[in-house]
Amino acid sequence: MRIVAVANQKGGAGKTTTAMSMAAVAAESSRVLVVDVDPQASSSWWADRAGDRLPFDFTADTDAANLSRLRELPYDVVFVDTPGSLEARSVLRTVIESADFVVLPTEPMALAFAPLVQTIRQLIEPAQTDYRVLLNKVDPRVPTSVVDAEALLDGAGIKRFANVVRTYKMHADAPLRGDVVTQYELTRASIKAVEDYRRVALELFSIWTNTPATVEVP
Ligand SMILES: Nc1ncnc2c1ncn2[C@@H]1O[C@H](COP(=O)(O)OP(=O)(O)OP(=O)(O)O)[C@@H](O)[C@H]1O
Ligand SMILES: [Mg+2]
Repeated sequence: MRIVAVANQKGGAGKTTTAMSMAAVAAESSRVLVVDVDPQASSSWWADRAGDRLPFDFTADTDAANLSRLRELPYDVVFVDTPGSLEARSVLRTVIESADFVVLPTEPMALAFAPLVQTIRQLIEPAQTDYRVLLNKVDPRVPTSVVDAEALLDGAGIKRFANVVRTYKMHADAPLRGDVVTQYELTRASIKAVEDYRRVALELFSIWTNTPATVEVP
């Protein structure tokens, strides 16, 4: 089993969207659980809307100390959705210490990077948990807009996914509709939207198996 924390102390960076979407694509080939440790309970609300249609198991537990017990359960991957506030620091510390990997979604904007770098330097590096930053909400019409963001991260020696996640309105509407990315109505945009997460999931699995990702960004 691998426990993947989805974290960023900046609110609204895309933690809940990333946890639910990565879980959906991972569930196509693995036994997946999502744990909501955020008292705001956004992913719990989403999971409630999805009900029986959710293609993975889901549980809410705001006591992060319980995470280590999950290792006894028969799952391949557990995604943990974490709170996006500085007050929740001790929860986040516990989650990161229990996790095997941290995915840090962020908008590709310079001003978003200070809290991101803080999370990495103060919580992730001391715990020696492997991590990758995931550039999220990339404008699909201007994919080159990530170039500056990537240069900033690379210059600071911060590890990131090669693949990025683009902005699609259907991601923002998904919680209300009660579906997840693999269940979106088939359109040209939805095919691209799910592709983003499949690429990131493949990259994650290839990091784990230590082989380079072979998937190319078009
Ligand atoms: N790739 C995307 N395309 C479109 N909308 C997105 C995308 N990623 C996130 N969003 C939207 O941005 C908003 C914030 O995302 P989300 O709730 O996932 O962030 P969060 O980091 O979990 O926030 P919080 O810190 O409050 O927990 C939501 O309205 C969500 O639907
Ligand atoms: Mg959230």
